[in-house]
Amino acid sequence: MCGIVAYIGSRHAHSVILKGLKRLEYRGYDSAGLALMNGNLSVYKKQGKVSDLENYLHEVGQDTLHASLGIGHTRWATHGEPNDVNAHPHYSGNKELAIIHNGIIENYDSLRTELINKGHQFESETDTEVLIHFIEDIKKHENLSLEESVRVALTRVIGAYAICIVSASEPNTLIAARKGSPLVLGLGKEKGEFFLASDATPIVEYTSDVVYLNDNEVCVIKNEKFTIKDIHTELETAPYIQTLDIELEAIEKGGFEHFMLKEIYEQPKSISDCMRGRLNAETSTMMLGGIREYIDNMVDANRIIIIGCGTSWHAGLVAEYIFEDLCRIPVEVEYASEFRYRNPVINPGDVVIAISQSGETADTLAAIELAKAQGAIVLGVCNVVGSSIARASHAGSYTHAGPEIGVASTKAFTAQLTVLTMFALLVGRKKGTLDEAFYQTLLQEMDEIPEKVEKALELNAHIKYISDIYKDATNAIYLGRGHNFPVALEGALKLKEISYIHAEGYPAAEMKHGPIALIDKEMPVVVVATQDSSYEKVVSNIQEVKARKGQVIAVVTEGDSLIANMADHVLEIPATNQLLTPLVSVIPLQLLSYHIAVLRNCNVDQPRNLAKSVTVE
Ligand code: F6R
Repeated sequence: MCGIVAYIGSRHAHSVILKGLKRLEYRGYDSAGLALMNGNLSVYKKQGKVSDLENYLHEVGQDTLHASLGIGHTRWATHGEPNDVNAHPHYSGNKELAIIHNGIIENYDSLRTELINKGHQFESETDTEVLIHFIEDIKKHENLSLEESVRVALTRVIGAYAICIVSASEPNTLIAARKGSPLVLGLGKEKGEFFLASDATPIVEYTSDVVYLNDNEVCVIKNEKFTIKDIHTELETAPYIQTLDIELEAIEKGGFEHFMLKEIYEQPKSISDCMRGRLNAETSTMMLGGIREYIDNMVDANRIIIIGCGTSWHAGLVAEYIFEDLCRIPVEVEYASEFRYRNPVINPGDVVIAISQSGETADTLAAIELAKAQGAIVLGVCNVVGSSIARASHAGSYTHAGPEIGVASTKAFTAQLTVLTMFALLVGRKKGTLDEAFYQTLLQEMDEIPEKVEKALELNAHIKYISDIYKDATNAIYLGRGHNFPVALEGALKLKEISYIHAEGYPAAEMKHGPIALIDKEMPVVVVATQDSSYEKVVSNIQEVKARKGQVIAVVTEGDSLIANMADHVLEIPATNQLLTPLVSVIPLQLLSYHIAVLRNCNVDQPRNLAKSVTVE
């Protein structure tokens, strides 16, 4: 959480940084700030969005903002409430240094007490201000260079960080370091131009040459050159320069009112992109290069453990059904945050699949380390190329959904399902639990999914109409069975996170064990009721809701007249094999949450209290 950007070069640093912060705002948006080397080392910061900072800078006046070096930050508060004082950057006590930080310094309290005893005074409540005072203190009392002081300080702090530091006494130097929070270095086309950012989106406009910093690396940019060293060994590391494959259009709204809507509409393409070069229905072939060497580990696995958080966890729940059906391997799906803290039993032969859009979720990352330490093979399913989880896994497959900027995950979910289904198809076929004819049928069905998603998107206008009816609801229940149960969970999560309506997802049969008590004529009940093996049972559940006067919005298979006669509203989606239904049945639920949130005037792309990349535990 929190987004950081830094720039050194011949452009206006403040413009590059502000634009970059807007791209990173999905990572946190409760305050923003920047520090510029504009003769002095000046810090400008404001509570609120990057646009509030921008307005404030207009008042300050462009003339004072000229600088070729600067650092900027958009915050998701951890230590200290969102306000101007707690906003980053933070100065050192003597105002010689300024820092931006994404992460948490866990031993900040003891460091703070130590520094207060030495006479330091703090303005904010943040751990970050403690870190910059600590660096200042080491520089002064141990008589070290700035670069050395930063490195030494980092060997003594506990926690996670991506930081950038500038110093008034070294106006052409930029120092950055990472441990546990992402940081990308962009190499500008001109000599001496460099960018640093939490992800590549602020950089892509200027260069495609990047270096993803590794944990425990410190990068020093000075004299138009950069060097990267290991914080502990002090050894210089050879940079691995990668070429970005993100297009600028992919990170812009492209005519849509919100990123979330754009991303919902991108799903026919993102699912195709995910299958491209991997699945060929015509030749009945499939290949996933990234996990080629680990297919046998899955085939021979006694158990597959899937870990993830939020929407990624829901994708894991769908995959459980698919793996068990096609591969006959027991699957456990765990919240990464629970798995990592409950001394899980991991046996030799277990394969762990870690799912994460951002590839930076702290709990998932920690769960991976735990699983690896206990001998499990870990396969990653990530969207962000080069992310920490992708790198921490033994192998994996990217979802190739393109940048997902709306905080509510949509296209990442369907791309995760696509990858996981391909895993299961490969494993089931090799294991012999999936016969050839069914394998070919599923490949054919997979190939048709983008078209079916396109068809489901045609429901948009009808969903907007339904949303208007239910926009003032205070509660909602989502029901589904089998493969559609996780879809119900996902629909409820989407609604609550962006429209702030309380919503619960339940397996439809569980309703009578408690939630049925909530049903009255005010309660919208969204039922995913496609024609699959549990169809009749779901029909009975709808009747139970209607008998109690609940308002039923049903997602049904095209041509379903039975449910049409019972439900208050039906949303028809094209038929597909039930294993693949969630790829299509989730689409109306994404649109429903989107429209309700818009009608309630909620900030769809940046819902309150949330951030896209959850890098704190
Ligand atoms: C919900 C949502 C979150 C994420 C969760 C995991 O719309 O976006 O629940 O799914 O924070 O994030 P990743 O997938 O990046 O690990």
